[in-house]
Amino acid sequence: MPHLLHIDSSSRGADSLTRQISARYVAAWRRQNPEGTVTYRDVTVNVPNFVSADWVTGVFAPAEHHTLQTKAAVDASSALISEVEAADVLVLGVPMYNFNVPATFKAWIDQICMAGRTFTYGEDGPRGVLAGKKAVIARASGSDFSNPAFAPMDFHAPYLRGVLGFIGITDIEFISVSGMTPEQVNAGLADADQAIAASLKAL
Ligand SMILES: Cc1cc2nc3c(=O)[nH]c(=O)nc-3n(C[C@H](O)[C@H](O)[C@H](O)COP(=O)(O)O)c2cc1C
Repeated sequence: MPHLLHIDSSSRGADSLTRQISARYVAAWRRQNPEGTVTYRDVTVNVPNFVSADWVTGVFAPAEHHTLQTKAAVDASSALISEVEAADVLVLGVPMYNFNVPATFKAWIDQICMAGRTFTYGEDGPRGVLAGKKAVIARASGSDFSNPAFAPMDFHAPYLRGVLGFIGITDIEFISVSGMTPEQVNAGLADADQAIAASLKAL
């Protein structure tokens, strides 16, 4: 039974383009996978913990050295990792804020990157553990970063490719909308619908 993890991180509620695109993707995926299951997480409502001293100590401590605080910090992180481990497909609604991902989404990333669990260090360097998953990123930005004048300031897509690849998720697809005017937004959403259909056809 296929399983999908759906995460949103826009603070713009119903006006959010990334929320609209991620919801459309998940609805189409459900139609294509009627037996499939979905876990939904909104990191603006349930904001993940930030990396704390208890988390850092706990991740690297043997179980017998845990305190209540370090155990709680690691358990919260572990619960988020379990959601990723259980998913075949991740649909991530991630707007661009100040040229990168929203801080709430970064907090989620920081919670799921755990040494020994989602990546390991071997003789050849780090190795991502979460292979075989597909990530679809619904992205929205005010500027069009396919414009070479803006491209050097795009830390969003390279960061997501880099950090997800680091934990083993290398099959990554972006469905992007850019622009501020209603015309740009409507055209972008229509393109997104086509991209969703093409993406699901290839699944
Ligand atoms: C706090 C904030 C920061 C933003 N920073 C950028 C930015 O650095 N570059 C950009 O092109 N657009 C930026 N924008 C515009 C958003 O990326 C754009 O409104 C997008 O549609 C937001 O995604 P959403 O519709 O899912 O909320 C920013 C918007 C907000 C609210």
